[in-house]
Amino acid sequence: MHVLSVSSLKGGVGKTTVTLGLASAAFARGLRTLVVDLDPQCDASTGLGAIGDFPETVADVLKKPRHNVVLQSIVPSTWGKVQSGHIDVMIGSPKALEFDVPTPTVKDVWKLEEALTRVENDYDLVLIDTPPSMNGLTRTAWMASDRVLVVSEPSIFSVVAAERAIRSIEALRRDLSPRLNSVGVLINRHRPLSREHEFRIQELHELLGSSVLTVRLEEKSTVQQAQGAARPIHTWPGEGAAAISQKFDEILDVIQESFVEKDIKRSRAKAVKFARFRKMMRGQKLEGPIAEELEQLSEEN
Ligand SMILES: Nc1ncnc2c1ncn2[C@@H]1O[C@H](COP(=O)(O)OP(=O)(O)OP(=O)(O)O)[C@@H](O)[C@H]1O
Ligand SMILES: [Mg+2]
Repeated sequence: MHVLSVSSLKGGVGKTTVTLGLASAAFARGLRTLVVDLDPQCDASTGLGAIGDFPETVADVLKKPRHNVVLQSIVPSTWGKVQSGHIDVMIGSPKALEFDVPTPTVKDVWKLEEALTRVENDYDLVLIDTPPSMNGLTRTAWMASDRVLVVSEPSIFSVVAAERAIRSIEALRRDLSPRLNSVGVLINRHRPLSREHEFRIQELHELLGSSVLTVRLEEKSTVQQAQGAARPIHTWPGEGAAAISQKFDEILDVIQESFVEKDIKRSRAKAVKFARFRKMMRGQKLEGPIAEELEQLSEEN
């Protein structure tokens, strides 16, 4: 199971749109996919057709990431009625807001990671839609993630926010989660004829170099239509929808390639660093000399 957060420290740039587009691409590709709706606005749950009252939600999971709570907070998306496949959503809740504090405890930011270990074998891909801030919920999402995709519009404030997001990911990786890495910055709502957009894209390239993905998403009204109907963009009719679906396929390719790199690079040094937290993270079942070394380290501490 691989976990990706879709983030930006600025609101309204397209995090939920990108989460849903990637979910649609993964669904079309036959991947067993879970979308975790960590944003108290619950837009991802709505886009996946998960509307109504649910006994447990992500807010309950963040309180108690027990096995039964986690399972009850996850429901199938109505997308499964349009096309066969496996796509679920961990239901969002306005109550998650209580975890969005500026200085969360280390214990709290581990909760989603702990919850996802319960479903480790049930999914190929987990996509986390995050709120537009660097508070507790985004940190919780990043602590549970292997990768973060940063979304940006080609506008001045988004460019500044994208750079801050990349720096924050670096800091969290250094301090707490060595496996965390950014996939890069995805430019959304691009209008190829806009001079302002070209200027801002150039600026992003100068600031962040190769971190800016070459694949971009254009502004297309069809995206909003599919979202309004709670349908995957890959099943939406028309050439516009097909073109944007293809872009989401390309972005998913980039993400999957970056996961493979991670699997290869999982190094001894990283494994030892994890021992500091005395936590077994997802995918950290170790064998051989490293496992023995870790055991020894835990005993010594
Ligand atoms: N490429 C696009 N083409 C057309 N409309 C888009 C595109 N991307 C996003 N939108 C629209 O822009 C609005 C904001 O997008 P979205 O909700 O995905 O942003 P967000 O970053 O998740 O916002 P928030 O910070 O509030 O969670 C939505 O109405 C969405 O449909
Ligand atoms: Mg959103």
